[in-house]
Amino acid sequence: MSRLARRTALITGSTSGIGRAIAERFAAEGADVIVSGRRADLGAEVAAAIGGRARFLPVDLAAGREAIEEFAARAGDVDILVNNAAYLVGGRSTADTPEDVVDAALATNVKAPYLLTAALAPKMLARGSGAIVNIGSINALTGMPGSALYSASKAALHALTAAWAAEFGPHGVRVNTIAPGPTDVEWSTPIRPYLERIVATVPSRRLSSPAEIASAAVFLASDEAAHIHGATLAVDGGLTAVTAHGAARAA
Ligand SMILES: NC(=O)c1ccc[n+]([C@@H]2O[C@H](COP(=O)([O-])OP(=O)(O)OC[C@H]3O[C@@H](n4cnc5c(N)ncnc54)[C@H](OP(=O)(O)O)[C@@H]3O)[C@@H](O)[C@H]2O)c1
Repeated sequence: MSRLARRTALITGSTSGIGRAIAERFAAEGADVIVSGRRADLGAEVAAAIGGRARFLPVDLAAGREAIEEFAARAGDVDILVNNAAYLVGGRSTADTPEDVVDAALATNVKAPYLLTAALAPKMLARGSGAIVNIGSINALTGMPGSALYSASKAALHALTAAWAAEFGPHGVRVNTIAPGPTDVEWSTPIRPYLERIVATVPSRRLSSPAEIASAAVFLASDEAAHIHGATLAVDGGLTAVTAHGAARAA
């Protein structure tokens, strides 16, 4: 299929995991993709695996406005922006979270998508078309111990989706959120026993796959979602729909 033909898509955090799957699927749908992240070796590998439709642009999104604006300038005209990169903080109680971790999480998960969108959206607005997909989390929707900082940062991204839908929608730029549930990525392996306990409460009885998140991203970025603005699409096997019930069963 070529639902994203003639579009240039920038996917932050596409050196691994969900972002990599999104970059691969977008390219398969005809988009020219910009792969990004800090790990240049992996970025080059992802771009090479995709082939001619991909290029890698390194960036540290936590490095502030100047670095982000320079990155946006190197990216050039972007039709689709996927704000996917994140600082993944898990399993830390609120009292035991150091200030530098708070700063890093907010810099990567809130400030960076804010500044990158600020840098790229004006050209989309001038063209009268564009799509932004924010990768949030079901943690923004339901409480979970050890996840206060990460959840708050993702809730901010969900809030940005709604605000940007209001701000950009009248000018032809759609903004939506995907809220993945627990997803089977590289870093999941060491915490598999913990994830298996969550899986027992998921209606689908399994983790999400990166490819399934990518399918949702293709849909939201494509014209098939032309009248979808400001939505949150949970790709979680039904977990958020049954959270209270599921949590009670898991206890
Ligand atoms: N996996 C899950 O269960 C799950 C569930 C819900 C939501 N999510 C969300 O899905 C998204 C992808 O996560 P993932 O699970 O696929 O994890 P991942 O494989 O660790 O991906 C995170 C990506 O973010 C990039 N990144 C992190 N800090 C960065 C920085 N300062 N500058 C530039 N890039 C940076 C990393 O690239 P470099 O290291 O190369 O910089 C990496 O490509 C995140 O937004 C996460 O919150 C994941």
